[in-house]
Amino acid sequence: MKRLRVNIPKREYDIIIDRDILKNTADYIKEVFGGEKIAVVTDSNVGPLYGDTVTGSLEAAGFKTELITIPAGEKSKCEKYLFELYDRMLSFGLTRSDLIIALGGGVVGDLTGYAAASLLRGVPYVQIPTTLLAQVDSSVGGKVAIDLPRGKNLVGAFNQPKVVIIDIECLKTLEPRVLSDGMAEVIKYGAIKDKKLFELLENIKNKEELFAKIDKIVYNCCDIKRQVVEEDEFDKGGRMILNFGHTFGHAIEKQYNYETYTHGEAVGVGMRMACEYGERLGLTPAGTAERMIKILENYDLPTYVEISRQQLGDAAAVDKKGEGGSINLILLKGIGDVLIKKFKKDEFLDI
Ligand code: GLY
Repeated sequence: MKRLRVNIPKREYDIIIDRDILKNTADYIKEVFGGEKIAVVTDSNVGPLYGDTVTGSLEAAGFKTELITIPAGEKSKCEKYLFELYDRMLSFGLTRSDLIIALGGGVVGDLTGYAAASLLRGVPYVQIPTTLLAQVDSSVGGKVAIDLPRGKNLVGAFNQPKVVIIDIECLKTLEPRVLSDGMAEVIKYGAIKDKKLFELLENIKNKEELFAKIDKIVYNCCDIKRQVVEEDEFDKGGRMILNFGHTFGHAIEKQYNYETYTHGEAVGVGMRMACEYGERLGLTPAGTAERMIKILENYDLPTYVEISRQQLGDAAAVDKKGEGGSINLILLKGIGDVLIKKFKKDEFLDI
């Protein structure tokens, strides 16, 4: 078992990484919670696989549980299901002295985390991420949100969990496309902060080899995220580097109505574009985009999608990470090292 401590003053918490630990969920919960009731939120894919294991462990330890299942998919990250969660949790008699658990991928984590931030002005919560993307990214760092009809993640909060429990075994049941979705974020961590991780990923030949090394890979990614979040919890500076590939990626997701490409697929293409921009500007060493294309292909991620410069510029300018009309683009100084370049929209279109 591996543990990482996220040191955010007054809101410190552990990330626990191990295999086959969902059956021991109560042991980790007892470390951070002494109350009675726990609402466990999951979705229609994850609930049938792991819902009973988690609630069974909690009930056996004397907790009262309520399992709440939402439909799987991004469309559930909305006001309707937020209000449904409030309703179910209040009917269960949940108070601020109780606990909420998010058991699932990024949608469940973000929606549940936001429900926890806002219900009764805040109920403590725990993340049990079951997808690779949620394990290495969205469950750590406290960003929680719902989508609005006009865009993704437009209502949210910074709400750190009490503990993050990562069971690596859950990755075995992922559809190949969902695994690749998470691999894009893993590649990102290597690209921005960890050359050795990037090289390791370049050399992995097949799924068996990936699974033999995945514990260490998830640990490395969580450790990088931990460091970045500790330095800039509220995303005012350094945390921006986690958006490498995301400005273009968000533009692609939006252009295709969040349907054609997964987040990871769009970010993968975005990372290739960012490498090419950097190379054109002479800020990224020649050949980096080529390496990025090869590594994306190694994990069955697309490297190219149809999108115009104008569409990229328009979407980037309204991306919530843009400040005062300028666009912050994260570029690579080399594999494992980044720089943040500010552009005006017109300059950006000219590159
Ligand atoms: N997923 C980006 C962040 O947590 O800041």
